[in-house]
Amino acid sequence: MIDEPIRYVEQPGVHPETPLLGGDVTEGLVRVGDTVRRPVGGSSALVRRVLGHLESAGFAGAPHFLGVDGSNRDVLTYLEGEVADRPWPEWVGDEARGVSVARLVRSYDDAIADLGTPDWSRAARPTDPPGCPPSIAGPGVLLAHLDITPENVVFRDGRAAALIDFDLVRPATRVEELVNLLLWWSAWMPPEDRAAPLAEVDAAARGAALLDAYGLDADDRARIVEVARNGAERSWHLMRRNAAEWGGGWQRMWDEGVGDRILRRQTWLADNARALHDAIT
Ligand SMILES: Nc1ncnc2c1ncn2[C@@H]1O[C@H](COP(=O)(O)OP(=O)(O)OP(=O)(O)O)[C@@H](O)[C@H]1O
Ligand SMILES: [Mg+2]
Repeated sequence: MIDEPIRYVEQPGVHPETPLLGGDVTEGLVRVGDTVRRPVGGSSALVRRVLGHLESAGFAGAPHFLGVDGSNRDVLTYLEGEVADRPWPEWVGDEARGVSVARLVRSYDDAIADLGTPDWSRAARPTDPPGCPPSIAGPGVLLAHLDITPENVVFRDGRAAALIDFDLVRPATRVEELVNLLLWWSAWMPPEDRAAPLAEVDAAARGAALLDAYGLDADDRARIVEVARNGAERSWHLMRRNAAEWGGGWQRMWDEGVGDRILRRQTWLADNARALHDAIT
């Protein structure tokens, strides 16, 4: 394994830097010509290897890693297309869009599954903070994306074409990946916390449609709701820890009430567990 990344060779000419907004966490993200620059951070080494693997596997739905520039930033290809900005556009609630995201995530999971969960992919994983309930998801089997928000999917011709923002990649199960997909694309959260485009979505029926599109097997479907509930409990502790230890956008999200939203989601999942489970199994 090469640990020293290649140096990116700048294209000749003057290329202005345009800030890329829309995310919560990464500061200093800019577009330069047909590239994106991300300040090197704790997840860089893992993300470079993930993107390298996807590229050599011929997976078209992710940026390519091109090297590190003279300002110590990871250089990735800029992907043309449509990405949701805030407030989210109406189409975030369209079933066909969501179904296309589920299919893209399936192809990502299959492409990355060949890599397994090598030792280096587990090295950077922090331990759980005190009080955090242990995960019931079981051992990770693939390097899941786990951050499939509308801001992290590039669409072309109304269909999901690529995933971006691999900062939260870690060894996980397909069930954990799907819990994240359902949170964002089938509104598995209480109505008062949903963005407008998802306000009227039937969470159970939409969830079933996305799992069908992904092709999740019966055993995994039977576990989704309990893993979602465990994940919501863990998420409160993990977000609080990230805010305290990493500050920045994590602290901003915590100050804006993400912790209370997670508590409301825990209650909503408990109240709707039976209906959700029945709809998807
Ligand atoms: N390779 C890319 N191609 C096209 N657009 C991109 C690319 N990378 C980032 N963007 C744009 O910049 C925005 C922010 O990027 P990104 O999601 O990587 O940042 P972030 O702050 O880490 O987000 P998050 O809060 O979701 O972690 C994206 O929503 C997208 O609009
Ligand atoms: Mg993002």
